[in-house]
Amino acid sequence: MKMDYSGKKKKKYIKVSKTKRETFSKTVWKPGTMLYPVPAVLVTSKSKDAINVITVSWAGTVCTNPPMLSISLRPERYSYELIKKSGEFIVNLPGENLATAVDFCGVKSGRDLNKFESCGLHTQQASVVKAPLIQECPVGIEVRVDSIKELGSHHMFIGEVVAVNVETSLIDKSDRLRLDKAKLLCYNHGHYCSVSESLGKFGFSVQKKRIRRNSGIKSF
Ligand SMILES: Cc1cc2nc3c(=O)[nH]c(=O)nc-3n(C[C@H](O)[C@H](O)[C@H](O)COP(=O)(O)O)c2cc1C
Repeated sequence: MKMDYSGKKKKKYIKVSKTKRETFSKTVWKPGTMLYPVPAVLVTSKSKDAINVITVSWAGTVCTNPPMLSISLRPERYSYELIKKSGEFIVNLPGENLATAVDFCGVKSGRDLNKFESCGLHTQQASVVKAPLIQECPVGIEVRVDSIKELGSHHMFIGEVVAVNVETSLIDKSDRLRLDKAKLLCYNHGHYCSVSESLGKFGFSVQKKRIRRNSGIKSF
């Protein structure tokens, strides 16, 4: 490890070659939402006898402990009404096979039609909240609303995760959830994309390479 001028140990960083760096060029745009890719999730809600499903991309994890996430909704959405009244919702993670349903639930309102029926989505009782799980989605995250932050066009519902439902077939023999096998879908600046290809495991960039004896195959 090299020393810098202050005598501190200097970390090694992965270098980008000079020729590659010279090809970088940026155009400055006015401020806008440009954090991509993002999830495209199916959020279900229930208030009294009314149930609904809406596609949401302004969603994210906001805290690990306690586990909390957020979704941002425009107040004019039918789902906004149901979630505000009930204080609960479920974030269902769809796979690539549900791309049509994800798009449909993002352009049609539950005020006008039953989107579950239109998309052939089956509901299932959740374990804690009253909103339904979507059977066809491999993961369903049950959430209780903690607070609502009125930001502007969107109001952010910040909620605590009260249960997580995962498709049993995605749990391997070592009890690990293999979400990399779930062929989940994401939204990338106007396009639905797949996230099925794994590029490496968490921490792979700093993990030492081990050479397996006999086989000669390098593995992590
Ligand atoms: C990919 C995608 C992402 C969307 N993300 C959001 C979002 O984060 N927040 C929101 O309020 N509306 C979002 N929408 C729009 C709503 O899903 C849409 O207006 C829907 O018809 C509202 O349904 P509802 O009235 O039944 O609640 C999104 C639509 C699509 C297609």
